Amino acid sequence: MRTKMVAGNWKMNKNLQEGVALATELKEQVKNPTCEVVIGTPFIHLATVCELLKGSPIKVAAENCADKEKGAYTGEVSAEMVASTGAQYCILGHSERRAYYHETPEILKEKVLLALANGLKPIFCIGEVKEEREANIQNEVVKSQLEGSLFNLSAEDFGKITLAYEPVWAIGTGLTATPAQAQEIHAYIRSLIAAKYGEQVAQDTTILYGGSCNEKNAAELFANPDVDGGLIGGASLVAEKFTAIIAAR
Ligand code: 13P
Repeated sequence: MRTKMVAGNWKMNKNLQEGVALATELKEQVKNPTCEVVIGTPFIHLATVCELLKGSPIKVAAENCADKEKGAYTGEVSAEMVASTGAQYCILGHSERRAYYHETPEILKEKVLLALANGLKPIFCIGEVKEEREANIQNEVVKSQLEGSLFNLSAEDFGKITLAYEPVWAIGTGLTATPAQAQEIHAYIRSLIAAKYGEQVAQDTTILYGGSCNEKNAAELFANPDVDGGLIGGASLVAEKFTAIIAAR
């Protein structure tokens, strides 16, 4: 049975005190989840939140890491630094990083390798923009994103990846993929993994849905056989909403 997961992505929200307050609330409310629970926080929160969550089932993710190992890269944070905080996951390839910070498939390939080399488990995001969905080329888009940054990995390393299908048109817009749309493309993504790595690896890969997933629509999305959980933006910033989504998984 593959891992089911609900992961939060705080993005660039919450100062340190606010983040500590939210993590504290979550620690109190999430005691025995039936799925893997992860919160993705800004770099500056990682060490404090990891310390705070000791003894809690909640795991911590960075939202990014550098594409270089170490050295004179002012302002960057390496995968090794992330791992040294106690974080276990690293969100990579988010559409906001691709769009606003020009992260290419090649750059993301390097980030994935460095995350893995430092024992971090990547949560790797893929998904098409609105125009691509309208042109009905979403399958080609996700295929090329997988091929461009992940399909160089060995089967063993690919097994450490969690995928997040996040249609860009659904992120922060209140427009959610319908459960049928999500299921269709998740099944397609799984078929691509099967073709590359075999059926067992495909069956073991956790594929999350992200994009305006909230406490109201989560259960319907998660009811699909190939939707293994969610990567949650806005609704992960409010403890009650995030815990309701966890309960829906
Ligand atoms: P929203 O849930 O705010 O749409 O964001 C989704 C997302 O980008 C998670 O990574």
